[in-house]
This record gives sequence, structure tokens and C-alpha cells, in this order.
Amino acid sequence: MTQDQLKQAVAQAAVDFILPKLDDKSIVGVGTGSTANCFIDALALHKGAFDGTVASSEASAARLKAHGIPVYELNTVGDLEFYVDGADETDEKLHLIKGGGAALTREKIVAAVAKTFICIADASKLVSVLGTFPLPVEVIPMARSHVARQLVKLGGDPVYREGVLTDNGNIILDVYNLQITEPTVLETQINAIVGVVTNGLFASRPADLLLLGTPEGVRTLKP
Ligand code: 5RP
Repeated sequence: MTQDQLKQAVAQAAVDFILPKLDDKSIVGVGTGSTANCFIDALALHKGAFDGTVASSEASAARLKAHGIPVYELNTVGDLEFYVDGADETDEKLHLIKGGGAALTREKIVAAVAKTFICIADASKLVSVLGTFPLPVEVIPMARSHVARQLVKLGGDPVYREGVLTDNGNIILDVYNLQITEPTVLETQINAIVGVVTNGLFASRPADLLLLGTPEGVRTLKP
């Protein structure tokens, strides 16, 4: 199976998982990236089964709207039963690195609101120790150099993601060469640096369920 077919398989598995639990008042949290796009396309076949969505990026909102799926502002909705999103890396405890698509802050906000965060990923994303994928950090532009120096003190090699502004108008530093053995500790340390908006470690609030696409089929993992 190709990586694209694995992404489509986990997207379909997520739809199959949530569909029986949705009703015409349900709002679904929707993530960002190529795997989330597969989920959006699969969800679009069931438009009548739920009320609408909250999106974690302008790109996902545009794709949802193109399918005719309502997209609400997070502040206007109450409960979110599910948030479905991809990841750049996951460990067995469902601690994640996210933000390859620069949407990490809104992703983290929607994940915080949702009762159940379902991560969908192909098998290449499962690692024993997080950190091979450079850790994205969203930073207020004027704090870029300060934050970069503090990240070096934490043992990383930050690189400015050229030409990228987040949906919130901020920049991204990608931090290379971190061996993230204590994700919750590092998440807290990086968030404490003045000028950091958020970082792409999802450890304090990990995923609740991982649907992992493998050539043998979709595996379901829980922390
Ligand atoms: C975007 C993200 C994505 O979930 C992550 O980059 C995975 O993307 P893809 O499904 O394209 O591999 O965090 O900010």
C-alpha cells in the first residue's frame, strides 16, 4: 500500500469510529494536513449526520466549506465530542509532535476543548522516542532571536522556517536534534520561554486514540 492509501484508510477508520456517535447537533473538530484532508473528504460523504465542524486552520476551513460542510468559530460552540487530526510523530503513549503544517496552536486549542482526540497517522509516524522530526515552535516575530537562544540552551538547534507565517501572524522555529525522553517536561519548559506562543509537543494533552495505518490494516492504539 502507498502512504496515500494508508492515510485514506485511517481517515475512513476515523469516520467509521465517530459516525455512530454523531447526531444532528454534533460539532466535529477537524485538524490540518494531508491526512486530515483525507478525513475531510471521507466525512463529506456524511454531511447529514452532524451539524458542522470547527477547523484548526484556514486551509481546513476552506476545504470543509468547499464540500458544503458548515464551519463554526470555536467560541460559538459548546461541547466538542471529537477532534480528528494527523501528526508528524507519535510514540506509544500517544505523545505527539505536530505543527509540520504550522497549525499547531489552533490544533492544540481545539484538542484541548475536545473530549476525545483521535490521531490518524500512517505507520511511518510511530517512533520510540520523539525528536527525529524537528519540533515546531510558534513564536511572536519580535521574539525570534531571544527564543532561538533559549532553545539552544535546552539542547536544540532552532531553524527559522523561511517564508511561513501562521494563521495567527506568527513565525515558526523548527528545533532539530532534540532527543525528547520527557515530552511533558520539555513541552512545559518551551512554553515558559517569553515570546513562545506554543510548541508542537502534545504531551500534557496527548491523543486519546491512535488509528495507525499499516500494510496489514488499521491498528488501534490507546495510551
Ligand atoms: C499540521 C500538523 C499535521 O497534523 C502534521 O503535520 C501531519 O501532517 P500530514 O498528515 O500531512 O503528514 O500538525 O500543523
